[in-house]
Amino acid sequence: MTKKKLIAGNWKMNGGLAANEALLRALLAGLGQPSADVAVCAPAPYLAQLQGLLAGGPIGWGAQDLSAHEQGAYTGEVSAAMLKDFGCRYAIVGHSERRQYHGETDATVAAKAQRALAAGITPIVCVGETLVEREAEQTEAVVKRQLAAVIHAVAHCTSEIVVAYEPVWAIGTGQTATPEQAQQVHAVLRAQLAAATHQAERVHILYGGSMNAANAASLLAQPDIDGGLIGGASLKAPDFLRIIAAAH
Ligand code: PGA
Repeated sequence: MTKKKLIAGNWKMNGGLAANEALLRALLAGLGQPSADVAVCAPAPYLAQLQGLLAGGPIGWGAQDLSAHEQGAYTGEVSAAMLKDFGCRYAIVGHSERRQYHGETDATVAAKAQRALAAGITPIVCVGETLVEREAEQTEAVVKRQLAAVIHAVAHCTSEIVVAYEPVWAIGTGQTATPEQAQQVHAVLRAQLAAATHQAERVHILYGGSMNAANAASLLAQPDIDGGLIGGASLKAPDFLRIIAAAH
């Protein structure tokens, strides 16, 4: 089954009102009629700006995180319902930077994915091994454990999630997984999804980790790579546009 690929930008903690507007206007001007679905995931304070600039157009938008709680006394947190108020279609959950720097466990990530789905937001669930884990041949075990927690929590909604395989050693390092390395893990994840839902083919499994204009086409040509989650290269309109153009 062929489905549209999904190219999502992860701006991380970058941007500002003026820079965001310049980037988005350049993307809108250069996009034409993309054959892929396109989205950008911005810091929460800018979601209103994204809604204002992108509503009704070809670029969707999302958040980079959300609270595992529904509402209440959780100072500093942003709920799924709040993201929905600002038109978010996606929310990244379990990015390795949150697992690493904010102590997010598999259980937290699973709860966040559930909150997103309950609010009508598609969680982009990130999984991926560290270099130490890869060298210890733990890659499969790690990504399967991370995805299993989410599948267990979202159960019959498994076909509604997006998965992003992001080897930690490839993020922001310029060291991309080879298309073969990535495909191998994507196939493992696809099989795991297939054991949980008969609609596993519907699920987008994105690759992330130093994807750029030069390597996107060969990664996106792999049978189980359904798009990309792009950090650094999503902050430069020409680079992001070239990645989008490589996705068909
Ligand atoms: P990168 O980041 O493209 O800058 O490696 C990807 C990500 O962390 O989502």
